Amino acid sequence: MTFRKDFLWGGATAANQLEGGWQDGGKGIACPDICTGGSHTKSRRITPVLEEGIFYPSHEAIDFYHRYKEDIALFAEMGFKVFRFSIAWTRIFPTGEEETPNEEGLRFYDQVIDECLKYNIEPLITISHYETPFALTQKYNGWASRKMIALFTKYCETIFKRYKGKVKYWLTFNEINSAVAPIGGFLGQGILNEGSQDFMKQADIPQLRFQGLHHQFVASAKAVKLAHEIDPTYRVGCMQLFATMYPLTCHPKDVIACQEKSHLMNWFCGDVQVRGSYPNYMKRYFEKNNIHLEIEKEDLEILKEGCVDFYTFSYYMSGCMTANKDQLAAEGNILGGVTNPHLKASDWGWQIDPEGLRYTLNEIYDRYQIPLMIVENGLGAYDKIEADGTIDDTYRIDYLRQHIEQMHEAVKDGVDLLGYTPWGCIDLVSASTGEMAKRYGFIYVEKYDDGSGDFSRRKKKSFDWYKQVIASNGEKL
Ligand code: BG6
Repeated sequence: MTFRKDFLWGGATAANQLEGGWQDGGKGIACPDICTGGSHTKSRRITPVLEEGIFYPSHEAIDFYHRYKEDIALFAEMGFKVFRFSIAWTRIFPTGEEETPNEEGLRFYDQVIDECLKYNIEPLITISHYETPFALTQKYNGWASRKMIALFTKYCETIFKRYKGKVKYWLTFNEINSAVAPIGGFLGQGILNEGSQDFMKQADIPQLRFQGLHHQFVASAKAVKLAHEIDPTYRVGCMQLFATMYPLTCHPKDVIACQEKSHLMNWFCGDVQVRGSYPNYMKRYFEKNNIHLEIEKEDLEILKEGCVDFYTFSYYMSGCMTANKDQLAAEGNILGGVTNPHLKASDWGWQIDPEGLRYTLNEIYDRYQIPLMIVENGLGAYDKIEADGTIDDTYRIDYLRQHIEQMHEAVKDGVDLLGYTPWGCIDLVSASTGEMAKRYGFIYVEKYDDGSGDFSRRKKKSFDWYKQVIASNGEKL
């Protein structure tokens, strides 16, 4: 009734938020490289032509590209069993369309993987984490085009063959379901419609997003099949942004509104990737929203043949749904829901709900009955270096402790949980705001939103705390 012996404790990151070295080693430009910094109150801007004197946080990020040895040694010191990172597609195929891969890019990940293995840290690799090659946006409008399927498959084949024997766990698309909302169009799919400058309010064409999702489903299924052919020991998972929703009241209309929202936001993409077919409830949604998918004959067969081996998700917060349209319009938060009066929120307004994690784990496992992994969870917060150089992030320890306690409850409930990789185990650039000030790490990085900072690393209080959590397999919290 406790965490499995081989439980994968670790941490999670993504290339564009971590690596920097945006033009080193032959890397091409990825979509995040044209996004400026922003803040909680000021949206990032998407600038296809880079502007002089403007700070683009992904260009240097936290310089993992040059400091990965130091960082992985710190992860090893905490006792990590797994390290989740993503491969930048643009390091391997700089424009996405080269005939042959970029050897220097492949070599970089050889080194990162070898460094992990040196410490017995299992690499968990996201193949595409919010970083479509920008050249593919310019040429095809990203995943709106079916052309992307073949290009992605080629990229997958290249890395599956290259890292065979060293890697076991792969994830196809990070938070694939972000694209059911307008913000996921550019972020997750590299779709950039005319008039999209404001990262938070993009010019949105739902037809393109849902067609893009269909292309991503087919590409993901093909990747799963290919991975198993190349190495039958490979395990390939999906990755969902899980935005747990509660009805605001027990009024049946609120309950139905919540079910509809959850279907779309939380279940649709997972249902396709785990069960291998489109769920019936989406037919009604497509009809109502005038969305017509172009599905080729072989696609439905491919979806069936490419079901994922395990299910992973991010969990930061929960929200409430109401059938009251006025309240929704007035309050509409990042998830499209309304505030839960029983919960407190982070400084960025994300409502903190540890018990929701237990509920969510049960809901997902009841539905799919395949192993689960929480590959993102954590508290984005302002951290302060004290006069003596220490960083007391007790609030982060509290957040993580409460979530791990609820994971434990879910395991007792019978959920098969493989592992846990808190987000931003080392401070990195925020995906939504482009800030460094929104920190998640056990390790502080001296890099700031005006571009200053020398990248030096220092341990926060949570570093030693997490070390003891791992050493005790989640018993000492
Ligand atoms: C997830 C993403 O949405 O949440 C990460 O997969 C992201 O890339 C993380 O960084 C936290 O969000 P944010 O906006 O605080 O960085």
